[in-house]
Amino acid sequence: MSGLEGDAEQAELVQIARAIADPARPLSSLIGETGQLRAFVERHSHLSMEGSDRMTEGESTLPSGWAISPVQAALCAREPLRSAAFIQGLAAAINAALDAERPVSVLYAGCGPFALLALPLMAIFSPLQVQFTILEVHQEALDYARALIEGLGYGAHVAAFVCADAATWHIAPEATPDVIVSETMNTALGKEPQVAIMRNLFVQAPQAVLVPAAIAVHLGQPGRAMDEPCADWGRIFEVNAASILAWQEEQGSALPAASIRLPATLARAPKLLTRIQVHGKIVLHDYDCSLNLPLHLPGKPQLTGSETLAFSYQLGSTPGLACEVLR
Ligand SMILES: C[S@@+](CC[C@H](N)C(=O)[O-])C[C@H]1O[C@@H](n2cnc3c(N)ncnc32)[C@H](O)[C@@H]1O
Repeated sequence: MSGLEGDAEQAELVQIARAIADPARPLSSLIGETGQLRAFVERHSHLSMEGSDRMTEGESTLPSGWAISPVQAALCAREPLRSAAFIQGLAAAINAALDAERPVSVLYAGCGPFALLALPLMAIFSPLQVQFTILEVHQEALDYARALIEGLGYGAHVAAFVCADAATWHIAPEATPDVIVSETMNTALGKEPQVAIMRNLFVQAPQAVLVPAAIAVHLGQPGRAMDEPCADWGRIFEVNAASILAWQEEQGSALPAASIRLPATLARAPKLLTRIQVHGKIVLHDYDCSLNLPLHLPGKPQLTGSETLAFSYQLGSTPGLACEVLR
């Protein structure tokens, strides 16, 4: 890329990033800009999005869960509200931590091939304001992310590119982050290692701001249509700073979760509802993106009403909620 082309590319990214990071912009107003961002990264990445045969190529099962393939991780860029919420939330967390004396240190765990949550912010914060540690378990995805960042001229924003499992990675004392960001999750915190990653990293840096700040799974019942609010019967499980610290004594293969008694009559099957507080008031609600779609209960039990569901959160290579039905 020539200097002039590089300037034009950076200018385009600045314009997209300013819009998405603007706290006055509701997430729903950012569909156009997140679409532009997706087109921008797909145009500049060496990763080909052609053909669906590479969907599972390069995925892996870690001791803490499923790490999706580079192509599948790239497809996350096509979820506009998810991407807008995480980028706007990360921008707000960085802004709140800005320090005239030193750069804010951001640890980005599970960057995927586009480092999508960090790349736009490199266009609007200087390397003196923010330094990213870009971490990814798949070398191929990390290589794509590195080529994209350096190709666009943002290499100075990166303190280190690290290929490692974020669920077991040890943070060097001199690299303790101010902000930890990770979107390594699936609906109802199933399959992927978000809980194990946040837990491992946050106990090493308990003063850090977590993005997302909280992910809660509730028990409820979807309305008859998507525009009808879901009935909410209570919170089953939540991962946030306080719960991670409370789990420090938990050494087993499961984390505690709530028991909830179902109403006497069920109009429709109970579902798991995933709500994500990304940062402050930036929240992803039911149906906002694939991560917030109501999900059937583990094991799809036959339920008639009045049963008590006793939940636990199972760690390991297939993490997620488990439930015992007490009749
Ligand atoms: C859902 S994708 C998200 C990609 C990108 N952060 C985004 O938001 O668009 C999750 C990424 O995290 C990576 N990942 C999953 N588990 C990981 C782990 N334990 N350590 C490091 N990276 C991991 C996957 O390989 C994948 O690239």
